[in-house]
Amino acid sequence: MSTTDRVFIFDTTLRDGEQSPGASMNTDEKLEIARQLVRLGVDVIEAGFPVSSPGDFESVRRIGAEVGDAAVVCGLTRAVPRDIDVAADALSTAARPRIHTGIGVSESHLKDKLRITRETAVDRAIAAVKHARRYVEDVEFYAEDAGRADPAFLYHMIEQVIAAGATVVNIPDTTGYAYPEVFGALIAGLMEHVRGIEDVVVSVHCHNDLGLATANALAGVRAGARQIECTINGLGERAGNTAMEEVVMALKMRRDVFGVDTNINTREITRTSRLVSSITGIVVQPNKAIVGANAFAHSSGIHQDGVLKERTTYEIIDPADVGAGGSSIVLTARSGRHALRHRLEALGITLSDEEFERVHEEFLALADKKKEVYDEDLEALVGETERSANEVYHLEHLQVTSGDPGIPTATVELVDRQGNHYIDSSHGTGPVDALYKAINKIVREDNDLTEFRVEAVTRGIDALGEVTIRVTSPDGRVFTGRGAHSDIIVASARAYLNALNRLLVSTKPQVEEEL
Ligand code: KIV
Ligand code: ZN
Repeated sequence: MSTTDRVFIFDTTLRDGEQSPGASMNTDEKLEIARQLVRLGVDVIEAGFPVSSPGDFESVRRIGAEVGDAAVVCGLTRAVPRDIDVAADALSTAARPRIHTGIGVSESHLKDKLRITRETAVDRAIAAVKHARRYVEDVEFYAEDAGRADPAFLYHMIEQVIAAGATVVNIPDTTGYAYPEVFGALIAGLMEHVRGIEDVVVSVHCHNDLGLATANALAGVRAGARQIECTINGLGERAGNTAMEEVVMALKMRRDVFGVDTNINTREITRTSRLVSSITGIVVQPNKAIVGANAFAHSSGIHQDGVLKERTTYEIIDPADVGAGGSSIVLTARSGRHALRHRLEALGITLSDEEFERVHEEFLALADKKKEVYDEDLEALVGETERSANEVYHLEHLQVTSGDPGIPTATVELVDRQGNHYIDSSHGTGPVDALYKAINKIVREDNDLTEFRVEAVTRGIDALGEVTIRVTSPDGRVFTGRGAHSDIIVASARAYLNALNRLLVSTKPQVEEEL
């Protein structure tokens, strides 16, 4: 494959994706996703915005160390020397580090946000690229809000940063304003008018405010872009970013049109999607292309008849090609430790001995209640074990009574990190309300419960229940919590504590305004 028919996949799930309200992840969760992104075969992992918080800094450091030379690891910065210094420090563990720096280029960003002239913006961009090049050889420059910028100014800016040493130039449609013909023409103009463009990789970073992020990114590729910035499940600021699974499968299925390949192992797509959804608590809509629950479901009789005769009559993608083969029965109460470990490994889950013991314990309890334990059950159990690893408060006991008539009442016992035990009770409008009130009496952390959802992990009355909730702190930050158990009241308690634990350890972002 020549470099011209290879499109690099730049995954920003851990940076732009984390900007989805409620998608904040801790370092261990980010590491787990990074490992899966390597299995998936992405070329670049944008691991965070190091200056924004100690947590982001730590994540970039640990992901750099973990990934080795399997992928480029990238840290975001503004065109600010201190941002770049901090990113370089965080990236010092990476075998293939990239600094991603940039500045706004639209009139809106220059006049209303940065309050600087075009000349000052160009000077700052050049200085930032040169500063970053002192630390690393691979420097990507983003021209923020390029989708609404004056093309002539954009081209001038890009020419200057290439001369200053940028190796990749990113053309973001930050506000999701572009549409395919216009965005494709913007990239084509760049390829035509910018001196030195043939020496760098042109990247596209499209937001989905008009539902056009995937179409715009593909139009960019048609016009010569060779890197796509995207996220798993299309997560990202506001309406999200280009969904990795969509662009990759579009390029693959329509190679006749695009004539390019990626390095993605498409069979890992479904597993990656499920992992990201499980960690962030952001559910994938059922009709979502490629990874939605209905993406390969045929409902009408005519369609079913066609697919049974020949799959391709109504199905352009073989579900197996994206790893959506459906769950297989894997284990029962009689399966031993070896079988469990083997199955977890087959699912790409590596656990320490201590983590394995905890998963094994939960597995035995579940297998006692359920005859058949599916892959999805195992993934939920592992998620539960990981969530319980760094808790501020742990659920020790729970007792709930409810009925009609009757007064729903809950008593809970929580244990904190120092081993102190707390017991309290409350009544409420229902068992979950009573339970959450009892927990609040102990934890005493102000919040609003804004979402509560229960889902069965697999089919059947004995299925594991998974509860996802969101709480909002008084300063407007959103925290997602998840809990899984065969008893949905226990799952509800675990989910609430998971959200509260996240709230308790969170720090406010340190960068809130543009310089
Ligand atoms: O949308 C955007 O412009 C961005 C940049 C920081 C690359 O996310
Ligand atoms: Zn973005």
